[in-house]
Amino acid sequence: MGEDARGLLARAAQRLAAAGGASPRVDAELLLAHVLAVPRTRLLLLDGVTEGSADRFAGLIKRRAQGVPLQHLTGAAPFRHLELAVGPGVFIPRPETELIIELARGPLMQAEVVVDLGAGSGAIALAVANETSAGRVIAVERSEAAQSWLRRNAVSRAEAGDRPIDIVAGDIADPELLTELSGLTDVVLSNPPYVPAVLQNALSTEVAFDPTEAVFAGDDGLALMPALLQTGARLLRPGGFLAIEHDESHRDALLSLVTATGQWHEVADHPDLTGRPRFVTAVRR
Ligand SMILES: C[S@@+](CC[C@H](N)C(=O)[O-])C[C@H]1O[C@@H](n2cnc3c(N)ncnc32)[C@H](O)[C@@H]1O
Repeated sequence: MGEDARGLLARAAQRLAAAGGASPRVDAELLLAHVLAVPRTRLLLLDGVTEGSADRFAGLIKRRAQGVPLQHLTGAAPFRHLELAVGPGVFIPRPETELIIELARGPLMQAEVVVDLGAGSGAIALAVANETSAGRVIAVERSEAAQSWLRRNAVSRAEAGDRPIDIVAGDIADPELLTELSGLTDVVLSNPPYVPAVLQNALSTEVAFDPTEAVFAGDDGLALMPALLQTGARLLRPGGFLAIEHDESHRDALLSLVTATGQWHEVADHPDLTGRPRFVTAVRR
């Protein structure tokens, strides 16, 4: 016995709502479920919450009300069928990025070599390894802090039975990156940093918890795109498939950049589930 879960949740949700939280009740439930290590759906069936757990929960609610992302408090972020370890130093995978796997599904099913440029926690690369059955998956990441989360997630997915991925510490803009795969890669996927630096002060408190180099790319947000397109074009074989996530304001600029290289055909832009233009795909000539 102990404190009633219903009462605890109601008070916590009120506190988060007062702090301006977008989903106070869900956040409160997820945090209590995390503290008690039970599925969220079982919370209201509990007899009560011990004083120690209630104190721990109160501490997490306080930090959540201060704007700490839910995923940093639970240490986990869902991505497609996976739960990835995340925390300070790595970008928290976003639900909209899940669509890149759908956009590339056809080419991925045939692919022998897939490269994820700017892998962060490993969300895209590990989802590919989890959902497709053949081929090598290579995750490229420059940040050492992100690499340690990436390694941790790669080890735990391999232990769970997925095929292991290769992790490469490298820079997307390096012309020597993965030279052994030049012209031999079937699919290149990337969710690069793309937020215009001029928006730095206008973004939510939670984005401030993501590493700057994971989010911003020059004043207009397009700083990394030319190098990304160049590396993608060098790695892919003729007929190879490229998919890049981008800011909703970048559709026309990015389509022009891709087309101007003369290296791609079947260039197309795709919306996310809310209808905003968010992904460009192209096939290597
Ligand atoms: C928006 S995050 C995406 C992470 C992950 N792919 C995801 O979707 O959750 C961009 C990632 O690219 C990495 N990055 C930024 N610039 C890079 C570069 N020049 N070379 C390699 N990685 C880079 C960042 O460290 C960050 O992990």
